[in-house]
Amino acid sequence: MDLSNSTQSAGLHAAEFGEGAFFLAVHGFPFDHEMWLPLVSYLSDDCRLVFPDLRGFGKTPLPVSRVTTMRQFAEDLRQFLTQKKPTSRIVICGLSMGGYVALHFARMFPECLSGLILCDMKAAADLQTAADNRRRRADALPTTGLSALADAMIPNLFAPAVDEEKIQKVRRMILRQSVNGTAAADRGMAERPDMTDWLPEIHTPTLVVCGEQDQISTPAEMKTIAERLPSADFATIPNAGHLSPLESPEVFAAHVKDFLKKIS
Ligand code: MLT
Repeated sequence: MDLSNSTQSAGLHAAEFGEGAFFLAVHGFPFDHEMWLPLVSYLSDDCRLVFPDLRGFGKTPLPVSRVTTMRQFAEDLRQFLTQKKPTSRIVICGLSMGGYVALHFARMFPECLSGLILCDMKAAADLQTAADNRRRRADALPTTGLSALADAMIPNLFAPAVDEEKIQKVRRMILRQSVNGTAAADRGMAERPDMTDWLPEIHTPTLVVCGEQDQISTPAEMKTIAERLPSADFATIPNAGHLSPLESPEVFAAHVKDFLKKIS
């Protein structure tokens, strides 16, 4: 049964659940809003959960463009909020690529925020080789296809304890994305700036969350992010890898609830 209210604002498709504090969750790469669905049963009594599909992902089309920058995604979300008209400041939560976007948003539009949640992400830019690899991967995607991308990514996304059903769900989510939207975001990530020096300037209360077995953005790296932020708590999620909200939604949601209580 789908209890969501599916909406379209400022060109972004979104699913909404529950009532309360406005909680905007920004998906990672190459996923869509459905990655957040495991949290609904744990958080919809506490929050108005709003899960948009970023441009070029899920049901949101990609305007003609070869590159989608993290800044562009953040500007889209600002437009989206202008139409949604939340009654007070919101919490933005982003995982990995969604975390790059959330950090851009926090820097560009701090007046909109009461809280920031950064999950399984990095503040540093890609090294030159990694950026070149992303651009090559994006250019080859129309030929290699999303199935090859899923095969390459999935072994690094989960903790060993994950069940097969979750892996298959994520695989299906990757396969239904648009090739052009995925390639444009990959190119956008290749040119994202180093955000490390921004961290001391982000005064929004922040929760930094990391799967204990995240191999892509490790707990050690994320702890450093939390230490550089003026007002941040750091939490790790046991038995979870890079997709901690999806792998361990109950524990993840408990950290979110504590954080929401703290900032209310
Ligand atoms: C993600 O999960 O969004 C990706 O790992 C981000 C990235 O490739 O840097």
